Amino acid sequence: MNRKVFIKSYGCQMNVYDGQRMADLLAGEGYAETQSQDDADLVILNTCHIREKAVDKVYSELGRVREVKQARGKAGLETRIVVAGCVAQAEGAEIQRRQTAVDLVVGPQSYHRLPDLLKRSGTRRVVDTEFPVEDKFSVLPAPDRARTLARGVTAFLTVQEGCDKFCSFCVVPYTRGAEASRPVARIVAEAEKLADGGVRELTLIGQNVNAYHGEGLDGRPWSLRKLLERVSQIAGIARLRYSTSHPNDMDDDLIAAHRDLPSVMPYLHLPVQSGSDAVLEAMNRKHSADDYRRIIDKVKAARPDIALSSDFIVGFPGESDADFAATMRLIDDVRFASVYSFKYSVRPGTPAADQRAQVPEAVRSERLLHLQAVAEAHRQAFNADTVGRRTEILLERKGREAGQLTGKTPWQQTVQIDGAGFHTGDMVEVNILSRSTNSLFGRAVSAEAGQRTLIRPIELI
Ligand code: SAH
Ligand code: SF4
Ligand code: F3S
Repeated sequence: MNRKVFIKSYGCQMNVYDGQRMADLLAGEGYAETQSQDDADLVILNTCHIREKAVDKVYSELGRVREVKQARGKAGLETRIVVAGCVAQAEGAEIQRRQTAVDLVVGPQSYHRLPDLLKRSGTRRVVDTEFPVEDKFSVLPAPDRARTLARGVTAFLTVQEGCDKFCSFCVVPYTRGAEASRPVARIVAEAEKLADGGVRELTLIGQNVNAYHGEGLDGRPWSLRKLLERVSQIAGIARLRYSTSHPNDMDDDLIAAHRDLPSVMPYLHLPVQSGSDAVLEAMNRKHSADDYRRIIDKVKAARPDIALSSDFIVGFPGESDADFAATMRLIDDVRFASVYSFKYSVRPGTPAADQRAQVPEAVRSERLLHLQAVAEAHRQAFNADTVGRRTEILLERKGREAGQLTGKTPWQQTVQIDGAGFHTGDMVEVNILSRSTNSLFGRAVSAEAGQRTLIRPIELI
């Protein structure tokens, strides 16, 4: 049967990964993936619950999907609508009460049952938000080579899921469940498949990826450092990244991996949320701002050229002007290459939601704008510092203009080059010549005959 599925993932990298695994699973059921809702027999919204806005987005999208379903119905075509991901987990049957066009609600730990659930939902509406005893990863099919090739040269691989940290603002421990690590052997097998499908850069992902403690090849728990060592031996995998980490799990061995393992990239995403000790305590982060500074110092000592990035929440309940000033001091001290910042969003059922001292919306907005302006200046300074350097980029896709290819530096910056003679998947030595707000422009060293050793000083560009 020639059926089509449209999958839209919101939220974090874990959802992107899950969306791909759903596509792999449904391919076995005869569903081809489509990029257009209009010709989809099955629409899956793979949702995020992290902030109120993310949830609002899902309901407005569901309104649109319902219209498509109705229009297709008039033409005699059936459309089934699935809500998967973290909103599914958090809201369950409530989703079908709010949007009756939804046929099936399936949580992030039970989507491996999709084929069976779809059969059952043929006759009635179904909700599955269990945390099943079986491990979904042991049931999901391995990624298919043709689909992996089509997805490009970078890939995510979930190695750890769930969270036991219970930060007071966060829904993840409730939507994804308890922390669990996949065994090393399974991860290696999947990484080998991905490498065989043309993947050159692999990002090992988890809500708390540096707390990884899966069963090792010797039957004992292995740390993320040991996992990185093993995965770095896979032929074809030129670059390794990992995300997202918690400061309290940033141990010395992992820090040293940035020095010892050439394929581990000099980039670390280490969310801190706030620079105020009082706020960090109220958030239940269990470390101080100076603990974070000390970790950053160690990381920089191990790998001086490392790019740092972080997440911040502004307007957490009780955050005073002085608390916010402490956050800005931390940002000025670390000078992150990249910052993701959010206004605090009240999440029902989390401890922070009950705190009375909510910060007024106008203050949250003002603080966010200020933080983002400073962080953007730091990002631009970081990019400016790369101009004039020689570095290696991994070519990922076609560039903006005809003939261009786009790649990434080890520090996650986008670079455009003249693509003549190169292909996606190539690692290319380039000189970075100039920049715009969001891109760097480079030239392959091999295209600069006779200039191989010349690195242009920044002043000349
Ligand atoms: N596991 C990761 C974070 C996952 S959520 C970690 O611990 O860092 C991604 C980011 O969303 C968080 O780092 C935080 O900055 C933001 N976030 C989470 N809950 C939020 C809330 N209630 N309001 C605003 N931002 C939130
Ligand atoms: Fe959420 Fe905190 Fe867990 Fe990150 S560590 S997923 S912010 S509870
Ligand atoms: Fe969102 Fe769930 Fe990820 S709430 S951020 S999709 S773990």
